[in-house]
Amino acid sequence: MTITLEDLARRLKDCLLIQANGPDGDSISSLDSVLPNSEKGPETNHGTAADKVAFQNLTAESAGQICSLITQACLDDDFVASNFTRQSGDDVRQILYQDPELEFCICSHVYDEPAIGKPHDHGPSWAVYGQAEGETEMSDWAIVKQEQGTRFVRKSRTYTMVRGDTQVYNVGSVHAPVREASVKLLRVEGTNLDNITRSTVKPLD
Ligand SMILES: [Fe+2]
Repeated sequence: MTITLEDLARRLKDCLLIQANGPDGDSISSLDSVLPNSEKGPETNHGTAADKVAFQNLTAESAGQICSLITQACLDDDFVASNFTRQSGDDVRQILYQDPELEFCICSHVYDEPAIGKPHDHGPSWAVYGQAEGETEMSDWAIVKQEQGTRFVRKSRTYTMVRGDTQVYNVGSVHAPVREASVKLLRVEGTNLDNITRSTVKPLD
C-alpha cells in the first residue's frame, strides 16, 4: 500500500502527540531509564508539546513506530519519485514538511557526489534517518570524555544502511556517515536541525 507525504506527516504527528502528552497526559521518555548519562537528553521543563517532542529522546515505542513509517516511505517507489525531486544546483537538503504545531520536520537529502561526514550530534534534538536509495556506511561514536564543552569520541560501531533501513539518533548520539556514491535519505527531525547548535565533537585516534 502506497504512502503519501501527507499520510506520513499525519501518522508521525499522531505518534509524537502520544509521546508528548503520554497516554495519561504525562510526558514519557522510557529510553532515559536505559541510556547512559552522556546520551540522555537535557533536563527539560519546557511546557509546549513542540518542546517535548523536539528535545526529549524518543521513547522505544515512538522510535519503533517512526522507523516503521520511514521504512514504508523509503520502500515506496511513488513516494521516493514524488518527494526526491532535487534538480542539479538545488540544495542537498529539502524540507518536505514542517509541522506547524509540533515543529518536527520531514526532510529529503540527495547527495549526487561522494560525501564524507565528520562525527557529529544534533545538539538538543533527535533525528531518524532512513535510506531511500544507495548505501551509507554509518558509524556510531562513544563519548569518552567531555572537557570544557568539547566531547571527545571514539568509534564504537560501523554498519551499512541500504534501502529501507532506518536508524534512530537520540539526543546527543554521535554518528558519522560515509557516502561513496549518490544516495537519497529520508530524515525525520525533532525540530528543524538547520536551527540548532551542535555540540563540539573531536574524534580520538
Ligand atoms: Fe547526523
